[in-house]
Amino acid sequence: MADDVYSYVKDALLKPPRNSPLLLRMVVLTFSMVCGVYICSICLKQSSANSAGRLLNVQVVRPCEKPYVEPSERRFIHFPKPETFNRAECACNPVRFFAILSTQRSGSGWFETLLNSHINISSNGEIFSVKVRKSNISTIVETLDKLYNLDINTSASKNECTAAVGLKWMLNQGLIQHHDQILEYFNRRGVSLIFLFRRNLLRRMISILANSFDQNAKLLNGTHKSHVHSSHEAEILAKYKPTINATMLIPSLKQVEQMVTEALGYFKSTRHIVLYYEDIIKNRTVRHLSIHSRLGFVIVES
Ligand SMILES: *[C@@H]1O[C@H](CO)[C@@H](O)[C@H](O)[C@H]1NC(C)=O
Ligand SMILES: *[C@@H]1O[C@H](CO)[C@@H](O)[C@H](O)[C@H]1NC(C)=O
Ligand SMILES: *[C@@H]1O[C@H](CO)[C@@H](O)[C@H](O)[C@H]1NC(C)=O
Ligand SMILES: *[C@@H]1O[C@H](CO)[C@@H](O)[C@H](O)[C@H]1NC(C)=O
Ligand SMILES: *[C@@H]1O[C@H](CO)[C@@H](O)[C@H](O)[C@H]1NC(C)=O
Ligand SMILES: *[C@@H]1O[C@H](CO)[C@@H](O)[C@H](O)[C@H]1NC(C)=O
Repeated sequence: MADDVYSYVKDALLKPPRNSPLLLRMVVLTFSMVCGVYICSICLKQSSANSAGRLLNVQVVRPCEKPYVEPSERRFIHFPKPETFNRAECACNPVRFFAILSTQRSGSGWFETLLNSHINISSNGEIFSVKVRKSNISTIVETLDKLYNLDINTSASKNECTAAVGLKWMLNQGLIQHHDQILEYFNRRGVSLIFLFRRNLLRRMISILANSFDQNAKLLNGTHKSHVHSSHEAEILAKYKPTINATMLIPSLKQVEQMVTEALGYFKSTRHIVLYYEDIIKNRTVRHLSIHSRLGFVIVES
């Protein structure tokens, strides 16, 4: 029974009907000939009428050549097509996606400035400090898609020849909370991660306290700056000596340490490097090599 049904369906799909009358065949043949002649005559008429005008409108669309990419690298090389602008002559320049995963007061602002000093690198800051963007995994994915499609407009957005695009993302900005889906996103879209942490967590804590004190006190001529831009400014802010609650000290340092370990565990299957602020400010070689060799783009130091 099942065989019958199968062969019936096969016959219906594949075999021409047997014994179709000769007359019917002739009619179909004649009809198709008439149609063909008619279509040809219309085409000829139109092309003779328009050919002069059409030649003027012809644009040379030269498909650009995408570069050869090693098979192991293909996952990490992208050719985005932004909606807000045209990549023009750089449409076939490969773009790499990255994310800097960090904690507050760990040098990520400085590190990003370093990256952005390269003309073709665009690191777009803490785009997930905006509450609606991190409210659930759909808004997170939507924001990331927009960023990696080069459609986010920040002060660090670059041009059509951007070769690497990314953001900095603090662990407490939805990253730990939605780690499963974000990990899937990073691996699916070939995003390289730069973990940036601070070895000295006590100094980090003091920096947090001083920064939140200055939010009200505004020591720099009545303005608050999370990131200072001169040693003079740094000296003024460093005059503030916060009081630390000794009872809470060790538990809160442990808590940060644990969050960092957790994050490294969740995202260990990604392509990533782990950097420490103390190392990169001291060692030019670490600064240069780690980024160049592992992520495939070069930092031009100022
Ligand atoms: C930036 O990209 C453009 C276009 O691909 C390239 O010509 C230029 O050399 C790049 N600049 C640097 C500093 O790598
Ligand atoms: C996610 O958050 C956005 C903005 O807050 C909201 O409009 C949307 O309905 C939420 N989606 C889900 C699936 O919760
Ligand atoms: C990005 O924003 C700036 C300032 O708000 C604006 O001048 C610029 O035209 C915008 N660029 C794009 C591509 O939307
Ligand atoms: C504060 O203002 C004074 C006078 O305008 C200027 O000399 C000084 O450099 C400013 N200090 C900072 C930290 O911006
Ligand atoms: C330190 O923190 C503990 C726990 O939050 C609190 O009970 C205690 O009063 C604090 N001590 C001071 C001096 O603020
Ligand atoms: C800097 O880092 C490189 C690479 O890890 C290492 O070979 C070199 O000895 C370091 N230099 C200093 C001064 O620590």
